[in-house]
Amino acid sequence: MTVLPGQVAASTDGAAAPADPLVLAASWLPSTEDGPGPTMTLSTLGLDGYPAARTVLLSRFDGERLHFHTDSRSRKAAELAALPRAAVTLVWPEVARQLVVVGDVARVTDAEARAAYAARTRYLQVLAWVNDHEAAADTADRRRELWAAFEQDRPELEPPDSWVGFALTPVRMLFWRGSTDAASNRLAYERHPDGGWSQESWPG
Ligand SMILES: Cc1cc2nc3c(=O)[nH]c(=O)nc-3n(C[C@H](O)[C@H](O)[C@H](O)COP(=O)(O)O)c2cc1C
Repeated sequence: MTVLPGQVAASTDGAAAPADPLVLAASWLPSTEDGPGPTMTLSTLGLDGYPAARTVLLSRFDGERLHFHTDSRSRKAAELAALPRAAVTLVWPEVARQLVVVGDVARVTDAEARAAYAARTRYLQVLAWVNDHEAAADTADRRRELWAAFEQDRPELEPPDSWVGFALTPVRMLFWRGSTDAASNRLAYERHPDGGWSQESWPG
């Protein structure tokens, strides 16, 4: 079934499901006004053809796209430059929910990246500066010294040149819902070229 944004479709169990998965996502994702989070598994295609996955923070959901930020020298940045497609997986075991979003990735603007940096905790702002191969290979004591030396006389931090933001525009969204007394099920959405979404119910 294909539906246009704003319409409501009936799911196979008879209950109304939002026709627009972005609306449903907005009700599942917490507000990030108080800072980034939750975490999500970001999956890309590795340069060797194997899947590559790691945890990142959801910086923001703007109603259309999921934003995350990283180091432009990272493997994920190289992988996204080679193929700007990714999947993110978010899980809330305590409420038996999982959301998997697959889509196209694009760089965010410098202004947006700066705003996201400003919203990071001080720890994560410093980390963006001192997180390189040399420091990673050092002893724990030496890394602490480097951190303390960097912290001195730097009350305000600007983002380093390596700070970069990406936004994922969904083409597929999968909402998994578990239950203690019924089978789990998934609402599977797929975006069509006209901007509308098709929706199906799948077993868990
Ligand atoms: C809880 C948690 C949150 C993380 N958040 C981020 C993040 O927002 N951005 C980031 O670049 N790395 C983050 N990392 C580190 C990544 O998992 C990863 O190790 C790093 O980005 C290098 O990944 P890559 O070599 O695949 O590019 C986080 C790790 C953990 C455990």
